[in-house]
Amino acid sequence: MNAPKLRFAPTPLLFPGISSDAAAPAAQPAKPRSFREDLLIGLSGTPKSIPCKYLYDRRGSELFDEICELPEYYPTRTELALTRDRAGCIAQAIGPNATLIEPGAGSTTKIRLLLEALEDPLAYLPVDISGAHLRDAVEDLSARFTSTWVHAVEADFTRPFELRAPLSEAGARVIYFPGSTIGNFEPAQAQRLLASFAAPLRPQDFVLLGWDRIKSPDVLVPAYADARGVTEAFIRNLLVRVRDELGANVDPEAFALDTRWQPEHERIRISLRPREAQTIQIGDRRFDFEAGEELFVEHSHKYSDARMRGIAEAAGLRELRTWHDPRGWFALSLLGPMG
Ligand code: AVJ
Repeated sequence: MNAPKLRFAPTPLLFPGISSDAAAPAAQPAKPRSFREDLLIGLSGTPKSIPCKYLYDRRGSELFDEICELPEYYPTRTELALTRDRAGCIAQAIGPNATLIEPGAGSTTKIRLLLEALEDPLAYLPVDISGAHLRDAVEDLSARFTSTWVHAVEADFTRPFELRAPLSEAGARVIYFPGSTIGNFEPAQAQRLLASFAAPLRPQDFVLLGWDRIKSPDVLVPAYADARGVTEAFIRNLLVRVRDELGANVDPEAFALDTRWQPEHERIRISLRPREAQTIQIGDRRFDFEAGEELFVEHSHKYSDARMRGIAEAAGLRELRTWHDPRGWFALSLLGPMG
């Protein structure tokens, strides 16, 4: 058993988070905004928008799991196969007695592959805002990996947070950030997020990052505009939440999915657009849409090796290894703090 090796670290790991206001002092955590507040801000902007983090309620998470099974949606299965193929290499580079920290932990499939490949992993610490999803995952994993200490941490990893957990001085600490979640952030924010992950790391620690590569729009666009309309239902679910949770007057079905590849920004842009003029009424606030007007929801950025390397370096992380799948669609990068 590894348990005796674990001791509470004298100081917690401090992640500074990313601040959307670059001028705000990092040490002053802003108060989190509610769904309603964020929504009113988004709908008052130009273009109108809704933050994509609200996609993942219970129904949204189910729909996202369905997306992952779609023939058009290549990222999940490509990353899974890549992780399976390279797990041995990755485990060797990381070494024994590692502590894995996963910000925004979703499904446990990929972490299982790593935990199986690693030599005596000491701890797995998933970090997520939504507690319930996380606790199920933790129970599963503790039953399967009995000598690894599995402990869920409830926090928004984009905000400053302290990781207080038994941490061993032995073995590397690895921030595991798979799933191309990094792609949802604007490049400048992605850099700040990586810098936040790097901040508490020692020289011998790592960031293991899963990200999506630039490829033909013939592959990219259908992945975000599938034939069965699961992606449309997933994005529209935001408006279902607006209607059901905020008691708003809105017809989700009146809005259609609009997916575009923007080559100048190397990103997929996902929006909803009403077929005819529409109004979203929330209490006494009224938001009028012209026919076809954009309601922006999310970007999914795709990267070249060079650009991702540049962002990592600007965040204080050196590229140690990058692995690609055989088609070169997805990448896993092992990064280490720059001395
Ligand atoms: C969860 C951010 C990885 O960008 O591929 C999938 C989100 N949105 N289909 C992605 C998403 C619509 C997904 N990530």
